[in-house]
Amino acid sequence: MTKLKLFLILGLSLATSVDSTAQPAKGGKKISSDLFGLFFEDINYSADGGLYAELVQNRSFEYNPTERREWNPFSYWEYISPGFSYGRISVETSEPVHPNNPHYIVLDIEHVGHETKFVGESGVGLKNSGFDGIAVKAGEKYDFSLFAKQLSDSPIELSISLQNLKGLVLAAGSVSTASKNWQKYTTTLTATAENDTASLVILAKTNGKLAMDMISLFPEKTFKNRSNGLRSDLAQLLADMKPAFIRFPGGCLVHGDGLGNMYRWENTIGPVEQRKEQRNIWGYHQTGGLGYFEYFQFCEDIRAKPLPVLPAAVSCQNSGGTWQIGGTGQKAVPMNEMQDYIQEVLNLIEWANGPSTSVWGAKRAAAGHPESFKLQYVGIGNEDKMTPEFEQRFKMIFDAVKAKHPEITVVGTVGPSPDGEDFAKGWKIADDQKVPVVDEHYYTSPEWFISNQKRYDTYPRNATQVYLGEYASWGNKMRNAIAEAAYMTSLERNGDVVRMASYAPLLAKKNFTQWKIDMIFFDNATICPTPNYFVQKMFSANRGDYYFDKVITKDEKDINQAASCVQDSRTGDIILKLVNYGNSVKPMKVNLAKFGKIAAEGEQSVLAGSPDDENTFGDTQNIIPVHSVIRIGKSFDYSTPAMSLTVIRIKTKK
Ligand code: AHR
Repeated sequence: MTKLKLFLILGLSLATSVDSTAQPAKGGKKISSDLFGLFFEDINYSADGGLYAELVQNRSFEYNPTERREWNPFSYWEYISPGFSYGRISVETSEPVHPNNPHYIVLDIEHVGHETKFVGESGVGLKNSGFDGIAVKAGEKYDFSLFAKQLSDSPIELSISLQNLKGLVLAAGSVSTASKNWQKYTTTLTATAENDTASLVILAKTNGKLAMDMISLFPEKTFKNRSNGLRSDLAQLLADMKPAFIRFPGGCLVHGDGLGNMYRWENTIGPVEQRKEQRNIWGYHQTGGLGYFEYFQFCEDIRAKPLPVLPAAVSCQNSGGTWQIGGTGQKAVPMNEMQDYIQEVLNLIEWANGPSTSVWGAKRAAAGHPESFKLQYVGIGNEDKMTPEFEQRFKMIFDAVKAKHPEITVVGTVGPSPDGEDFAKGWKIADDQKVPVVDEHYYTSPEWFISNQKRYDTYPRNATQVYLGEYASWGNKMRNAIAEAAYMTSLERNGDVVRMASYAPLLAKKNFTQWKIDMIFFDNATICPTPNYFVQKMFSANRGDYYFDKVITKDEKDINQAASCVQDSRTGDIILKLVNYGNSVKPMKVNLAKFGKIAAEGEQSVLAGSPDDENTFGDTQNIIPVHSVIRIGKSFDYSTPAMSLTVIRIKTKK
């Protein structure tokens, strides 16, 4: 072990063993403890094919041409009959597993041929290659399941395997049908080799006829081993950020591509085979397998507050754009349906928080969660066009939630831009109706973020607060990430007005993206966090609830320098963030006199690089924070590297 490594380990354990005061120092400004969280939207295949760990694409045969003209219920499946076998396959709808899930496959096996050394296994069946291949790891287990109904008299044996592109079997199992009613069958497959482009193969080995639906394959190791769970590497990356909250399920996805396409939360709970699937506004299919229960469970698993956003009873004004083929622009729920719609919003609160003896609380309990999910925030609307129809419906929903659930903080919306007509009208509505928090959105240049660091300094205090629900600068290079970091220090400084903030969008699957600038890219087997991810993580995992000014001295005339100092009153830790958006080292001075006794060392994380540096898939993910322990005193000088964010965490002593 090198001396340096030994110093770092000793230093870290020294730094973490100091008792904390758990009392903020005098003179701090109380700021939001929920400031930094996550925005999750099912865009860029973030849910199906992404965070949701299901490996089979179109498992329920519900893909259809209203989603993509070339799609049909058999998309992403292949009919196979190796070994001179023959039979027939059809898509049917007469007696489905559940009316919400109408399509299923009928397999008529007329002849099962002979297995030979050359053709391998024989049988009649199906093949699915997931979302551009199924990635499996050697030694890992995969949970296969399907719903099947025997349509002929004798049981039908099904061989289940994972195969590589050459047909070599990587894992094998079998199930045998035993009922003329729909029944779920399961088996576990263990992969013998690693492969990123595997297929799932199901072959009937017995002559006869059977119906099949919900053909599913999950890695056994999902995040926290939840069934119907999340892809563990991606979920862990999000958990590592220690976000205060997660907003879901969007974005434009929420208010949808026309009224019939709004995201209705009630369709996404209960057994997965009974959920109502639908077209995703971003041009693909959503199974709802990652539904409200799973979102809430994930929030609980990573101690983030859930922030569900529900449509304000109007559809997206932009629907009918590039990705949508059924869009109608903004349409409003008819007035005679509004009471039902409002009830749906109230039902969510009962589902999340109500006792398990209540109608909706019982549904939560039936899903395995009798305890309350402790819902605190509900978003109503997403950057909607501020029309009279919107305003009227928003007010109706807001008033109903306020009256029945004064404990819930409603988050309203003020359009898609940092200014302009919808922004002004949205703020007027918020002021008139005394909405507690509103959701601002902006995607713009890094220079805008640098020049607008004073934006919230002049916002009125003790009035409607801001949730900066979607923001990003146009790029995933260091200059973008560091511009965002500078801006985030201003969010901390204004943490009495800005209650929450989340970068957007969060996830993007390689070759499946609709939105170019995202926080984390991934493919089936690997992940590629951007510099923007690390900036978000460094702020989010280092939140405080008191802000202190005059701790860090820097050149105030240089807008490329930014800094903030917060204290976390739970641990007593002081957290400094120092940002240098310039192209040379900049000196700053730190004075910690107001904090009483402090540790002699601090934990330091530095993210630094050249303006054009970025992370790409493969071996070039060089932009990561470097952690070390530094000696500090009551006051010290600090040289911030060019294009960098430094976070220093310091323990206080009793
Ligand atoms: O984050 C991507 C999209 O940007 C969101 O869906 C929408 O709210 C915004 O326009």
